[in-house]
Amino acid sequence: MSSETIETDITGSHAWQELSAHQPHVFAMHLREVFAVDPQRGEELTVDVGDLHIDYSKHRVLRETLSLLFDLARAADLETKRDAMFWGEHINTSEDRAVLHTALRLPADATLTVDGQNVVTDVHEVLDKMGAFTDELRSGDWKGHSGERIRTVVNIGIGGSDLGPAMVYGSLRHYVDADIQCRFISNVDPADLVATVADLDPATTLFVVASKTFTTLETITNAVAARRWLLDGLGIDDSDSGEGSAYADAVAKHFVAVSTNAEKVAEFGIDTDNMFGFWDWVGGRYSVDSAIGLSVMAAIGKEQFAEFLHGFNLVDRHFRTAPMEQNAPVILGLIGVWYNNFWNTTSRAVLPYSQDMARFAAYLQQLTMESNGKSVTSEGHHVTTDTGAVFWGEPGTNGQHAFYQLLHQGTRMIPSDFIGFASPTDDLPEADGSGSMHDLLMSNYFAQTKVLAFGKTADEVAAEGVDPAVVAHKVMPGNRPSTSILAPELTPSVIGQLIALYEHQVFVEGAIWGINSFDQWGVELGKTQAKELLSVITSSDSPSPQSDSSTDALVRWYRTHRGR
Ligand code: F6P
Repeated sequence: MSSETIETDITGSHAWQELSAHQPHVFAMHLREVFAVDPQRGEELTVDVGDLHIDYSKHRVLRETLSLLFDLARAADLETKRDAMFWGEHINTSEDRAVLHTALRLPADATLTVDGQNVVTDVHEVLDKMGAFTDELRSGDWKGHSGERIRTVVNIGIGGSDLGPAMVYGSLRHYVDADIQCRFISNVDPADLVATVADLDPATTLFVVASKTFTTLETITNAVAARRWLLDGLGIDDSDSGEGSAYADAVAKHFVAVSTNAEKVAEFGIDTDNMFGFWDWVGGRYSVDSAIGLSVMAAIGKEQFAEFLHGFNLVDRHFRTAPMEQNAPVILGLIGVWYNNFWNTTSRAVLPYSQDMARFAAYLQQLTMESNGKSVTSEGHHVTTDTGAVFWGEPGTNGQHAFYQLLHQGTRMIPSDFIGFASPTDDLPEADGSGSMHDLLMSNYFAQTKVLAFGKTADEVAAEGVDPAVVAHKVMPGNRPSTSILAPELTPSVIGQLIALYEHQVFVEGAIWGINSFDQWGVELGKTQAKELLSVITSSDSPSPQSDSSTDALVRWYRTHRGR
């Protein structure tokens, strides 16, 4: 290990050693005892930010643990690193880029000069252009090639250019107020495109091709296929694609682009007047609040989109200014580190008690795992401790009937985030007509976190007259940690707040581990090998020139079954 590694190795810090020594003490305590000796913790280990009420009292942390974790944050220079991000320093070192998704949600009168440019002016110019375009779409003034108004916006993108808009569109179902629906195509599996457009009318469909780089294989392939579908559907012959042709008119009226790469957009045939830009300092998985959110704006309107951005900004200001001890992303990020590195947990469940947030866990998977799934530090040295956890989840109550068994009685401890709302997006009477289905949903939310934490002892089970042979099976060990996040309702601002809350947790964890949370080199090799393998699997004569016997045999099997 080089001396530089030792200097930056957080595991060598005094705070890390203290936490290691402290862990067995907390490990030996049940949350029942933790609450018994500190009865105020349910009231006090909470933090309110914006509309979010966050209870972290059901975690396996003592007040002393938290104080040691704040020491750890100081040892890692968390606040300095945070400020460097907000000021636009090039903290994405492997790509030499600033990391400024927080600038996307600054109000128009703010100033942030980065590399000699006030980026807030740029951001609001694009927002204004998006606003003008979506106003036209929503009013019906934007007409397709055959003069009909647009009724469906289909976003073609993948990763951050899909998951963010798809998740937010679903979450804000109740705010979709114009006569426009959105759909999303991401997978290069043609089933995605075919199924998505099956019942659409090309005359009333507009495609948003969303790609930061505009080189992503899946997106460009799908965009070309969508163009084919559109032209065929409109009965346009593509032999003449020149200026003034029906082809050019149809593409101009049915395709817009969101990208940082104007050259590639023009090459595809989309007029750059119909392109909405963003910048290299916006990472794909941090881009739903940039022009990548265009489809969302089309659905909910520019005013509600402004509310969405305002939600992010509320949490940004809190993260930037609140003392660590009252700083929600700092506290939750540090608790994440606590389990990941001192308890060796490997995953975290995210459980929204909201069907509209069905895609939230999928969205968070990219945000957290592409950001913090790293094995080297920012300086390129091998890390000396585990980094990013696996994030997963499903909405409650569906998950309760699928995987909660393992959460409750399995041998692994899985910290869980429960997200719930006071007011429902929809409500219906309970089966017997006596109450509300939303209250039924939320009674499950409260019950699950309670049971996870406090469980049910063998004595309590036996006292119910359970057959002694079955008692052990019915014991609920409890002592399983969770965060409870509550908000009054699922609004554009609240979904922005929730995203920012997780974005900044990712930052906190990455800062403690000393990794670069903003590059994603690990996805590249698979892309180049797929390109090489495409020519191998589609060829019928050349022997497959792969170097390992497994891939060779699999490719041979595939080729045989494809009749090659
Ligand atoms: O391959 C991973 C990735 O680069 C993600 O980080 C990104 O969100 C996604 O691909 C899509 O990239 P683009 O927006 O450039 O098409």
